[in-house]
Amino acid sequence: MSGIHRIGVLTAGGDCPGLNAVIRAVAKTAMNRYNLEVYGIEDGFLGLIQNRMHPLTNESVSNILTLGGTILGTNNRVTPRSYPVTTNGVTENRDVTDRCLEHIAHNQLDAIVVIGGDGSMTVTSHFVRIGVNCIGVPKTIDNDLFGTDVTFGFATAVSIATEALDRVHTTAASHHRAMVVEVMGRNAGWIALHAGVATGTDVILIPEIPYDIDKVCQYVLARSRRGKRFSMICVSEGARSKEGGQVVKRIDTTSADPIRLGGIGQKVAFDIEAATRIETRTVILGHVQRGGTPVAADRVLATEFGGAAVELLVAGERGRLVVMKGGIVTHIPLEEAANKQRLVPLDLPLLLMARNIGTCFGD
Ligand code: F6P
Repeated sequence: MSGIHRIGVLTAGGDCPGLNAVIRAVAKTAMNRYNLEVYGIEDGFLGLIQNRMHPLTNESVSNILTLGGTILGTNNRVTPRSYPVTTNGVTENRDVTDRCLEHIAHNQLDAIVVIGGDGSMTVTSHFVRIGVNCIGVPKTIDNDLFGTDVTFGFATAVSIATEALDRVHTTAASHHRAMVVEVMGRNAGWIALHAGVATGTDVILIPEIPYDIDKVCQYVLARSRRGKRFSMICVSEGARSKEGGQVVKRIDTTSADPIRLGGIGQKVAFDIEAATRIETRTVILGHVQRGGTPVAADRVLATEFGGAAVELLVAGERGRLVVMKGGIVTHIPLEEAANKQRLVPLDLPLLLMARNIGTCFGD
């Protein structure tokens, strides 16, 4: 017997299409199939620190499958090992793990399902090491979580970026312009690569392949000489030139992962226009990629992942991360995913195929 009677569920890190679909799958599987109680922990690990959690019911998880965001709230700053505590007017970062353990015990949680990305899995692996039974569910639009072939949220982000690139394409062609579309993805180029291939984008710049701006400009000019008087360029926010570093939009000192990327699209556009004299504009998609209704593939994946998390707990597993490997939902030790990122491999068949059809990667 697993000894599991009541489980907590929390969503941590940036919001992502499909979070509610996972919450629903966890709650319905646990409550209806296994007669377990489920508590929703509010605002990620912050709710665990502040003892904010509430019982979920069939009613509270009904009608949320298609809803963007998370009904539990989330937080992408807080980590219990370094949490600001104010004593006598002085604020210091302290390890408040013990406070979390008290709240877990007080609410009689036998296990916690953590829906999050690599930062959240790093926090979770700490709890696993000290004996809290946690099961991770991989979430992120960036698709950069180590150990899984895919994360839910990625397909929706790609579909949003694809639609944006298609729409901008008509302006590029009509005005004979170069149009640069900057997409998210942190240090991984998955969104740019997939949306770029899906739209036949001429130039795709990803962090894994430092670009040479001269090569990009020569490519744009060569198209122009062939009568293609416009070019589409999809730039991942983490892309970098061979000489320069990534463009940082802001540094959030209150966050465990303080760097926020953004702005490389404007730099690329400026450099293209200066070198080619072709009018060039930039669109930065930003958080629109994270919002709204998940596409069908993400709803299905989220439901599979959520159900699998509960099955693992009932089977007596501890400290596992639900993953997709070769089309099969399986699981790995959660700590394997901590502190790691899954970048686009340079020998990825999709990358090579894109090169074969003439896509420029700026190298
Ligand atoms: O990890 C998801 C993500 O949207 C990244 O693609 C992006 O770099 C980051 O989060 C933005 O974070 P924030 O919402 O804190 O600006």
